[in-house]
Amino acid sequence: MTKKYAMVLGIGVALVAGVGVLAVRAADTPAAPDIKKLADQVGKKSWDELAKEGQAVAKKHDDLLDIMNVFKPRSKVAKVSGIGVGDEPGAIIPDGIEQKIIRMAGKVGVTERDIAKAPALKRMSEIAAGVAAVAVHKPNDKAQKNAASMQKWKDWSKEMHDSAQDLIKALETKDRTQVKAAVMKLNGSCTKCHSEFRDD
Ligand code: HEC
Repeated sequence: MTKKYAMVLGIGVALVAGVGVLAVRAADTPAAPDIKKLADQVGKKSWDELAKEGQAVAKKHDDLLDIMNVFKPRSKVAKVSGIGVGDEPGAIIPDGIEQKIIRMAGKVGVTERDIAKAPALKRMSEIAAGVAAVAVHKPNDKAQKNAASMQKWKDWSKEMHDSAQDLIKALETKDRTQVKAAVMKLNGSCTKCHSEFRDD
């Protein structure tokens, strides 16, 4: 190979690699790495301690939506991709935390397959608890209306964290009834806050 040819080939490879990285990055929720770091500490830290760490993350990301978007389906083509469920994309369906919670809390319920995938579902719960620690610092305009609505925002954030922790414990028992009860409580914290404060 001539020196010149090698150089051109080298640049070509670097370009292709660079474009590949960009394509993946473009779809990721900006807050995902910070939320994952918080998730790593769930269970090791109390709610107050975790929420304190969450404050720095809340300051870093202006928009609550950037935080909540980690719950969206994991997708390479969507404008924003959530973190997804489990390490391997598409291995667990639906591959989005919000959809997975809704499915398990609803008619389909908690299946034997879910119990077999407990580690992935525990991680999903840690992510939810991590989001709560950030969301608690980001009450939107509606929530900031008065002291009572602010209190609701705080209570539902803590409830999201606590019920996510309960879900982790329930998954350890491998008891489908307990898991179902815990996931319904977690889903309840999402829906209460959304129906009161989210415009849709
Ligand atoms: C303390 C209040 C609160 C809690 C608790 C909460 N959310 Fe949200 N969430 C919001 C608000 C407000 C928005 C709208 C943000 C915006 O549009 O700026 C939102 C937006 C979202 C979005 C993206 C917007 C969309 O249109 O879909 C997803 C996904 C989401 N939430 C999932 C969840 C899930 C899953 C849970 C529970 C595990 C949860 N949220 C718990 C307040 C909350």
